[in-house]
Amino acid sequence: MVTIDRVASMGAAADGIRRDGRRIAFVPTMGYLHEGHLSLMRIARGLADVLVVSVFVNPSQFGRGEDFASYPRDIARDSSLAERAGADVIFVPEAGDMYPAGHATLVDVGPIATVLEGKSRPGHFGGVATVVAKLFNIVKPHVAVFGQKDAQQVAVIRRMAADLDFGVEIVTGPTVREPDGLAMSSRNVYLSPAERAQAPAIRRSLDAAVSAAGGGERDCAKIVALMRAVIAAQPSAAIDYVSVADAGTLQELTSLARGSRALVSLAVRIGATRLIDNDIITVD
Ligand code: PAF
Repeated sequence: MVTIDRVASMGAAADGIRRDGRRIAFVPTMGYLHEGHLSLMRIARGLADVLVVSVFVNPSQFGRGEDFASYPRDIARDSSLAERAGADVIFVPEAGDMYPAGHATLVDVGPIATVLEGKSRPGHFGGVATVVAKLFNIVKPHVAVFGQKDAQQVAVIRRMAADLDFGVEIVTGPTVREPDGLAMSSRNVYLSPAERAQAPAIRRSLDAAVSAAGGGERDCAKIVALMRAVIAAQPSAAIDYVSVADAGTLQELTSLARGSRALVSLAVRIGATRLIDNDIITVD
């Protein structure tokens, strides 16, 4: 595996790979890799000749007061994990090289980026869309793989890739969970043992929604109330949002109509740690 830390060198390497007629698969990450990231790398590995993984904690997607400074970082560990997962190139740019003085462009993906996470974290998806657009231009992938855990991020990136004619195929990999159901996240390391014990309630609230819908419940307010009750039973948990939205538009639903596909999602603070998770309900 080769480590590249300069934007220009990564661009030149990608040009060379493409000139040789080889396909590039790409997994962008912010590092502190866990099994969720590694599963995306293994999917990507099977889709192309060369796998590029980026590790870049992108300052532009963190709001004021968020955890940019304290976001966990361990590039030596990330390199060895990425190599074992089949990466050929690990791209680790510096912020100053990604955002040189005078950088001003921001990619605005429109309404899909202003609900749910976009509402709670204003500006977040502008930062995500901008850095992913830049990474696509630098790495020049044929295919890029993102995790379903960040369902809205996938929707935003799909919209951006289509609207801006990137010609990159976007593939989604399933959420990887701990044995007790907690979705894997780099932020799980922030949880104290007592908080960690409460965190699986997030998955259980999604299970409550899926089983209510499976049992015929069509009223989204009732489904949201069931989910909220599961979270409310946890002493350290504070709900940011609980949502049942159309899986395509991400607009809130009032009822689950026949043939609908709903994204059930929530953001919860357990102590000081903000965690998100989601599931899809398909109504036949
Ligand atoms: O999902 C992430 O880790 C980040 O949002 C991404 C896609 C690498 C952009 O910084």
